[in-house]
Amino acid sequence: MDDSYLALLVDLHKRQKRQGPGGEVETGKAMALANLQKSGPLRIADIGCGTGASTLQLARSLNAEITAVDFLPDFIEVLKDNAETEGLSERIEPLVCSMEQLPFAEEEYDVFWSEGAIYNMGFEKGVNEWRRFLKPGGFLVVSEITWLTNTRPPKLQQYWEAQYPEIATASEKLKVLEAGGYSPIGYFVLPENCWLVNYYRPLQDSFPDFVARQKNDERATTIVESEKKEIALYKKHKSYYGYGMYVAQKFG
Ligand SMILES: C[S@@+](CC[C@H](N)C(=O)[O-])C[C@H]1O[C@@H](n2cnc3c(N)ncnc32)[C@H](O)[C@@H]1O
Repeated sequence: MDDSYLALLVDLHKRQKRQGPGGEVETGKAMALANLQKSGPLRIADIGCGTGASTLQLARSLNAEITAVDFLPDFIEVLKDNAETEGLSERIEPLVCSMEQLPFAEEEYDVFWSEGAIYNMGFEKGVNEWRRFLKPGGFLVVSEITWLTNTRPPKLQQYWEAQYPEIATASEKLKVLEAGGYSPIGYFVLPENCWLVNYYRPLQDSFPDFVARQKNDERATTIVESEKKEIALYKKHKSYYGYGMYVAQKFG
């Protein structure tokens, strides 16, 4: 992807509260599964944080210091502004960095949190590489695209396997966690409002302004068309795939 195309994508997405499916109720439910409200002070890393929907909620809800990591400086700038507005800056350390080159010490963190982002390095690689940064007994909380049924239309399967070969059912993901040295604590599926209401609706609402801002640039229109296709695909096939939220504890 060339830089100017990436700049367009950033311009579209940085104005959104979230850059992927998710929700406050669901983030809260994952916190509760890991029993984080009762613990603290915690060191948490939020990986692929985007403009910080989950980071800000974690900072608001927990006795914690949060390192918010994303490789896009524009997203981190928005997060910083939002943290300042909410008076949370002292508890959030923003870090522009690749999730594959984290500058952390072994066993530095109590929690690794990552909503809709681990796929960028691959689920298996992510859970295995991040493990060393967690204290023994620390928690990994990630959301990840997941098949919701054991079978699905072949064309859908081909599409997703081309996009992300690691797409799998929850039982397969849980096996990866177990093999990687984690004890699975909980799994649930993000309900469809996390996609349709929290993510896609505000994104769709922003398309006309985006295209106007980009002065009807052909690539901006192409981006909008591709987002519309993604939305239509989800609406048609939402009984077959979704985001699973996985909560697991490091053992050993
Ligand atoms: C689908 S968005 C999710 C953002 C946010 N967690 C949320 O739920 O709104 C994925 C995020 O991962 C970030 N990302 C992608 N590849 C990355 C990498 N290699 N290192 C760090 N961040 C990355 C993107 O910039 C983006 O903010």
